[in-house]
Amino acid sequence: MAHVTQKREYRDDYPEKTLYIPGPTEVREDVIEAMCEPMFGHRMDQMTDLYTTIVEDTKTFLGTDNDVIVLTGSGTEFMESSVLNLVDENVLVTTCGSFSERQANVAERLGKNVDTLEYDWGEAVKPEDVREHLEATDGEYDAVTCVMNESSTGVRNPIEDIGDVLKEYPDTRFVVDAVSALGGDYVDIDAHGIDVIFTSVQKAFAMPPGLAVCVVSDDAYDQEVESDSASWYGGFQRSLDYYDRKGQTHSTPAIPVMLAYRQQMKHMLDETHEARDQRHREMAEYTRDWAREHFAMFPEDGYESQTVACIENTQDIDVAATIEQVSEEYDMVFSNGYGSQLGERTFRIGHMGEHDLDSIKRLTDAIEDVAGL
Ligand SMILES: Cc1ncc(COP(=O)(O)O)c(C=O)c1O
Repeated sequence: MAHVTQKREYRDDYPEKTLYIPGPTEVREDVIEAMCEPMFGHRMDQMTDLYTTIVEDTKTFLGTDNDVIVLTGSGTEFMESSVLNLVDENVLVTTCGSFSERQANVAERLGKNVDTLEYDWGEAVKPEDVREHLEATDGEYDAVTCVMNESSTGVRNPIEDIGDVLKEYPDTRFVVDAVSALGGDYVDIDAHGIDVIFTSVQKAFAMPPGLAVCVVSDDAYDQEVESDSASWYGGFQRSLDYYDRKGQTHSTPAIPVMLAYRQQMKHMLDETHEARDQRHREMAEYTRDWAREHFAMFPEDGYESQTVACIENTQDIDVAATIEQVSEEYDMVFSNGYGSQLGERTFRIGHMGEHDLDSIKRLTDAIEDVAGL
């Protein structure tokens, strides 16, 4: 195969930039420092102490009685393994943007029968449409999937109401990709029958990348055990049984990132799930008001994300040049729109993780200055 990419030497002199992209996001200094410990083995007692601490703290933070897996990899691992573990035949994938479309693509590549319930980019998935679709198909699905927060369009889907619809279908598991939302947008996982919900830690958990978190219901575990096939690496059973027997992970994990996780989870427990939600709501409301004053919001009214603002470029500013200049002059980085479809038509501000109102205001001031708003 002919390769066009050549080595570009990594240097030691990059200017520090504050991240307002939809992940990775800013990480606290003490969380970065927590990674600098002498290495230990993944079968030592120290590992059991570390892994059981982060798993149990995550359950406490999320307020769930379901099981938690923290696996080395990123959220995409669970996009794939949840389909492998739960779907013998049919899966319904709701799509309304790039990441939900990726979920459909993943399931197709795994050879499953994939039906899609499709919405235009910018629209949200509606629980009544899911109900109607399930009624029309006699609920023949092993699983239904939904993205909580479509980071490509800034849409927050009503996963709680969709979960409530799915309660009427006890043989269908509800799988939620919460990659850019969990930890910054409150969700009562158990109350809404969410069987599988996963995230990547570099988003609203505000940790360095390298780990994925998945919360798994007993029904999902049982369905995997009864299914014809399951993922080896991302199998719920393998991870959860190993946890029960040894309090460790089945394969060698990214130990330094787990050390960072432990430290950041202390901050998250101190703040609480509810207070993090409130802080993120304030940042989202401020960003939305600012966007409506100068531009417009891209998502359908009432379904705007609490962690990623996708702003429609109604002033026709040069998005790429503005991002570049804000980065040069203010050392702050925000995002263009997603992919070729939304690249210049929108831009995105990640107001997630450890940011607060003041830090978001610093960015919007910088954009106003550079774009002459
Ligand atoms: C909603 C959503 N799903 C999945 C992903 C993929 O996450 P990762 O690259 O951490 O696997 C992303 C990344 O931005 C996302 O926003």
